[in-house]
Amino acid sequence: MTFKNLLFEEKEKIAIITINRPEKLNALNKETVSELFDLFKDIQGKKEIRAVIITGAGEKAFVAGADIKEITELDSSAGEEFSHKGSNVFRFIEKMDIPVIAAINGFALGGGCELAMACHLRIASANARFGQPEINLGIIPGYGGTQRFPRLIGKTNALYYLLTGDMMNAEMAHRLGLINEVVEPQQLLSRAEEVANSLAAKAPIAIQRIIQSVDRGSHAEIDQALKIESHLFGKVCGTKDMKEGTTAFIEKRKPTFKGE
Ligand code: COA
Repeated sequence: MTFKNLLFEEKEKIAIITINRPEKLNALNKETVSELFDLFKDIQGKKEIRAVIITGAGEKAFVAGADIKEITELDSSAGEEFSHKGSNVFRFIEKMDIPVIAAINGFALGGGCELAMACHLRIASANARFGQPEINLGIIPGYGGTQRFPRLIGKTNALYYLLTGDMMNAEMAHRLGLINEVVEPQQLLSRAEEVANSLAAKAPIAIQRIIQSVDRGSHAEIDQALKIESHLFGKVCGTKDMKEGTTAFIEKRKPTFKGE
């Protein structure tokens, strides 16, 4: 597949996606959002890919938001459709069977922060800046920001950043639990690849079921959530990977998981 606004590379079991509009700080225009959807759908179907890294081109930005030029043109019904389409793509990413790591290399604002929040893990360079500055444009986040932000950093913190539009630095993002880790800019991709490689060696069905259990359970009441977990636990107990993992432990050797 070839794309106008994305670069794509496969490194053994890892897919690396780079949003490539550095002159616009990788702002997500409709075309880029649609390309992301096509690419993630394609990756979801590839059994050999076991982890995905998504990052931004250039040194300045991961993604500086949805493309403001396109937002200016929206009326009420077009705005709802715009939000709905982008939200669907990000939800698709969040529900991927393969873990997605955001390697955040600079500004992650608006749609960029929302994209990062839809990923399963977030590693940021020390120069990253996060925020939902939509309030400064007279709008609200439309790709999940008002929903995922409070779920990740709590209502008190989320409302502060949503209402003020202030940016937070990587250290604050780490402290608030928005990101997993902060590294020096030159180490960002190598660290993301290291984590991706470690995930790629694990049992892919168990990885998929953990993502599902956390996702489904976090929207459910506790008794229902625990039932979801038990159901998925049962499913992984029926896999060859479970036999391999437990047998390898007993035999004191490294397991080889095949995704079966
Ligand atoms: N949509 C469209 N274009 C954007 C953009 C966005 N979200 N963010 C940056 N750009 C463009 C700028 O218009 C500029 O293009 P130009 O050179 O053709 O004028 C280019 O990217 C570089 O941005 P610039 O503002 O000159 O860089 P800066 O270093 O001075 O400031 C930011 C960086 C991130 C603080 C600033 O670009 C900004 O505030 N961007 C918008 C953030 C935002 O509100 N996001 C939410 C959108 S819903």
